[in-house]
Amino acid sequence: MRALVVYYSETGNTAKVAQALFDKLKTKEKQIKEIDDVSSLDGVDLIFCGFPVIEHSVPIKMQKFLKNIPAGAKIALFSTHGSFTDGLKSSTAFENAMTLASAAKVLGTIGFRGKVRQTLLDELEKHPIHKSWVEEAFSAGNHPNQSDLEDAANFGNVILNKFKSGLF
Ligand SMILES: Cc1cc2nc3c(=O)[nH]c(=O)nc-3n(C[C@H](O)[C@H](O)[C@H](O)COP(=O)(O)O)c2cc1C
Repeated sequence: MRALVVYYSETGNTAKVAQALFDKLKTKEKQIKEIDDVSSLDGVDLIFCGFPVIEHSVPIKMQKFLKNIPAGAKIALFSTHGSFTDGLKSSTAFENAMTLASAAKVLGTIGFRGKVRQTLLDELEKHPIHKSWVEEAFSAGNHPNQSDLEDAANFGNVILNKFKSGLF
């Protein structure tokens, strides 16, 4: 089976998670690619798609990628975000991603916190309406950490086993 890890990353958090997932993925035929480097999905059996949550949703490049995933393809989604894990704000992005990739079979999703660019926090801090989100996002400052990277690696292999089970 051939697995592909595709990611989009602006400040490196999603790239780090993608690399950790890829490095420990227990299959010989695997590739990792930045989203701009993916020219074809021919012959790929399982696609891991990683992106940062931007404005509660999926970045444009990943939106386009997900929309074009061939019908019946098996995929798994991972994201990084400043918000708390499993909060409403970060899960909305997965819902949107699944709608975009509705032709595919989604085997699983996982979100990790990721340090938010300081310039964005500085900008938002000027507006009282964003105060609570800025505080929430500020606490993501040391992520993704080692434990996140181990979780990413485990997630990759859980999905791989799910794929191999043939039940999905
Ligand atoms: C313009 C912008 C918008 C963002 N919007 C959100 C958001 O809506 N929710 C959230 O949890 N994090 C948001 N973030 C934080 C990023 O998702 C987070 O820092 C992520 O880990 C960045 O990943 P990257 O380093 O791979 O680009 C935003 C960051 C930027 C720069």
